[in-house]
Amino acid sequence: MTAAERYLRRRLPVLPDTVVVLGSGLGEADLGRESARVPYARVPGFPRPRVPGHPGALSMVGRTAVLRGRIHYYEGHALEEVVEPVRTLARLGARTLILTNAAGGIAAGLKPGDLMGIVDHLNLMGANPLRGAPRFADLTEVYDVDLLRRAERVARGLGFRLKKGVYAAVAGPSYETPAEVRMLKRLGADAVGMSTVPEAIAAAHAGMKVLALSLIANRAAGAGRPVSHAEVLVRAKAAGARTAALLRGILRG
Ligand code: HPA
Repeated sequence: MTAAERYLRRRLPVLPDTVVVLGSGLGEADLGRESARVPYARVPGFPRPRVPGHPGALSMVGRTAVLRGRIHYYEGHALEEVVEPVRTLARLGARTLILTNAAGGIAAGLKPGDLMGIVDHLNLMGANPLRGAPRFADLTEVYDVDLLRRAERVARGLGFRLKKGVYAAVAGPSYETPAEVRMLKRLGADAVGMSTVPEAIAAAHAGMKVLALSLIANRAAGAGRPVSHAEVLVRAKAAGARTAALLRGILRG
């Protein structure tokens, strides 16, 4: 057992069955009453987010572990570190993973403010979290069809349509060039971002069910206006209440 597992076994009021990773701008989403909040800095071996102002913390809401403050590859962490929190919680018994992110819309139908359920991905990060030990994993069905259906049903109940599409993960941290966005479109990507795929691959390897949701924060580069991180965060925050309502509904079942 790792030191992180041992610490969390002692520290958490209950062991999680589900993990939610909150992406850019969504870190403070209200998912219900918290029974514990543990800063990443307290958990031995947990990586620390390097983005100023987002120290990272794990909150427990019922039997859901909410990871507030994602570790990104573009911060300079190895993918091993990026997936460490999810792996630790999987080892503690969590069987379901819900990932959220902010992404740039590539498909014509994806407008800023839309939410997209990820049906499949393109890993274009040039790296893989399973590298090292010979960990082969089947990725035929990373994203769970039933969880996605549940998310669509909850969204309908809340009065909006959950779009669906393929997410391309790039290393970042620069945004794409217009030529790269045209390339991604031809490769079959509907949205592009810099996260989510490493955790999804590690979770698939651990046998977890995965749901991943992209908040479309902007149109990807080449759509007539520059892409700005500040704008991405503003958009994600603006959609925070709706995203939180969707997550609460999904967690309720
Ligand atoms: N590209 C890559 N990552 C992103 C974008 C984008 O346009 N928007 C939010 N994250």
